[in-house]
Amino acid sequence: MEDNIITIDGPTSSGKNSVGFLLAKKLGYKYIDTGMIYRAICLKMTRSGILSTDLNKILLINKDLNIRFEMNDNWKVFLDEEDVTDKLHTPQISQLVHEVAAQPEVRKVTRGIQKEIAKKVKVVMGGRDIGSEIFPDARFKFWLTASVEERASRRFKQLKEKDSAINFEDVLRDMMERDRHDQEREASPMRKPEDAIVIDNTELNVEETVNRMLDYIQNA
Ligand code: C5P
Repeated sequence: MEDNIITIDGPTSSGKNSVGFLLAKKLGYKYIDTGMIYRAICLKMTRSGILSTDLNKILLINKDLNIRFEMNDNWKVFLDEEDVTDKLHTPQISQLVHEVAAQPEVRKVTRGIQKEIAKKVKVVMGGRDIGSEIFPDARFKFWLTASVEERASRRFKQLKEKDSAINFEDVLRDMMERDRHDQEREASPMRKPEDAIVIDNTELNVEETVNRMLDYIQNA
């Protein structure tokens, strides 16, 4: 049983990051959003002009991948010692990332990075396969979800701040598509760990969701 790690898996926009960050803060753990690792790989690819079909070249950049997280009041992601935190949610990367994350060889590298982090610190780790594949022996595993309409509406609000022309129907369709890609890929698909505690936060805010998790943890 691994006591140093709490896993939070679930579909896109289910609140993993805000919930994970607050839960980690309350417990004195660090929070890692593993999606940022896949996104950083994509950033490196786009900067080097590497396409998602170019598996050999993807493997080459993964060989000497230098990704580091800084986790204080706010957290930051460094790629080759450059702070890339604000560069990882561009539409280009969001479109590319599911294809890259579906490559088994890429997942071997990300697995190594995730395992290394957990050796050093107590960590809450958010992703798609953290409780099912990476840390199946974690003591606490959560599966966070919300209705697809609610998740799309959260994403829509975020995107609307940057682009007023954005359309809710497009965001909803995109979200369903991303769920499908994550569920249907062969390599480490998104799935609920059998022993995960399920929290549907369609009707809960971040604080309420975290309080539910703390209830489980403290009464275990
Ligand atoms: O969480 P986020 O949307 O930033 O993750 C980006 C993509 O990375 C996801 O759509 C998913 O395809 C992939 N991912 C993954 N496994 C993880 C975390 C993210 O496959 N543990």
